[in-house]
Amino acid sequence: MTENNHDDRRSLIMSEIMTPDMVNFHGNVHGGYVLALLDRVAYACASRYSAKTIVTLSVDQVVFKEPIHVGELVICYSSVNYVGNTSLEIGIRVIAENLITQNSRHTNTCYFTMVALDDNGKPTKVPPLPLLNDTQKRRFEEALTRKQSRLLAHTTKK
Ligand SMILES: CC(C)(COP(=O)(O)OP(=O)(O)OC[C@H]1O[C@@H](n2cnc3c(N)ncnc32)[C@H](O)[C@@H]1OP(=O)(O)O)[C@@H](O)C(=O)NCCC(=O)NCCS
Repeated sequence: MTENNHDDRRSLIMSEIMTPDMVNFHGNVHGGYVLALLDRVAYACASRYSAKTIVTLSVDQVVFKEPIHVGELVICYSSVNYVGNTSLEIGIRVIAENLITQNSRHTNTCYFTMVALDDNGKPTKVPPLPLLNDTQKRRFEEALTRKQSRLLAHTTKK
């Protein structure tokens, strides 16, 4: 049996080179492509941590403060910030690196809420998240505050 150490699996780095087929009408990388990439990263991080089938419930506001260019390597640093009963928050820090100049830029950070499903498509329990250091505790607390705001916003809109 393969050992599944959840603490080792709480973070994941995924990277992808931006190619000419990803451009928008301005010649930069299409925002929709970046969003799809981020969704794949969140899925991989949550599913790898929990060893469950995962769906995306929500993504917080994503702000593209700077364009990403063709030829840049986009590196997504993801981590499980928070685990509830059936949901997880995945934080993703996006870095765009120019391979020639070796300059790198932080383009954005975003937060995905993912839910684990059982074989019947119903939300199912995820492994608890060990909080082993101050950074992990801070991320958990901040994610919990964001979750409460999302739930409040959602119930207020109904
Ligand atoms: C994800 C899904 C199964 C959740 O179903 P649900 O009936 O809302 O489930 P629950 O009410 O039990 O909530 C599940 C978890 O999500 C959390 N949640 C629900 N609404 C939330 C919101 N607006 N913000 C943050 N968390 C929320 C709940 O608090 C719960 O977390 P917890 O168990 O860790 O406490 C259902 O909404 C779904 O199937 N959505 C479609 C997913 C999908 O297809 N995504 C791709 C879109 S293209």
